[in-house]
Amino acid sequence: MDAKTFRQTYLDFFKSKGHAIIGGASLIPEHDASVLFTTAGMHPLVPFLLGEPHPAGKRLANCQKCVRTDDITEVGDDVHLTFFEMLGNWSLGDYWKAEAIQMSFEFLTERLGFEPDRLRVTCFAGDADAPRDTEAADIWRSLGIPQSHITFLPKADNWWGPVGPVGPCGPDTEMFYDMDPSGPPDETPESNPGRFWEVWNDVFMQYDKQTDDTYAPLDVKNVDTGLGLERTIAILQGVSSLFETELFQPI
Ligand code: SER
Repeated sequence: MDAKTFRQTYLDFFKSKGHAIIGGASLIPEHDASVLFTTAGMHPLVPFLLGEPHPAGKRLANCQKCVRTDDITEVGDDVHLTFFEMLGNWSLGDYWKAEAIQMSFEFLTERLGFEPDRLRVTCFAGDADAPRDTEAADIWRSLGIPQSHITFLPKADNWWGPVGPVGPCGPDTEMFYDMDPSGPPDETPESNPGRFWEVWNDVFMQYDKQTDDTYAPLDVKNVDTGLGLERTIAILQGVSSLFETELFQPI
């Protein structure tokens, strides 16, 4: 599946799940001086994640071009880019963890044909600011992901946001694809990141980080997800590096 077909497949899937398809925003943030570039699909949506009604409704999806430099030292391996496309679906006070995770799982396994055995997931381990996300892990188990394929990790790994110093944020659950299923069964995305490619991140935005570094509960709980276009098509095309996909080969 080429990138163009994949992009449309994603948008069609979420349209069929009641999402309005909205356009991507400029790479230069328009009303936000907190960062130089649009870093994620949620970034242009921050006012709506903080409670402003979005004119297209409560279920949104799009493809957002992003520039991200916080992991620039990783660029040069098989999976990291500074400029990439992120496919995202959002719930603005509509569905919550169960539906978000179920839709991610259905898209990966039924629409894209990823074998469930090759998926690994991580969930937030909990700390003084927010509890351990056993709810997300229970949902994954109910979908057939065994406990041995679920890892709990701290904020450094399983927490998203805010984009700047303050704003919406929350625990997340990340989905990884096993590029070497014949590898040692006890390896995890944490112990061998080269083997497990992170493809998707479902963020459960339920906090608003304050200037004093505390986390106030948001009045409305939102979902923010991001699926990496380049990584996913590399998997679908059976290649072992983003640079082997049709997006990079002509260059
Ligand atoms: N904001 C999250 C991310 O960029 C999910 O979209 O990973």
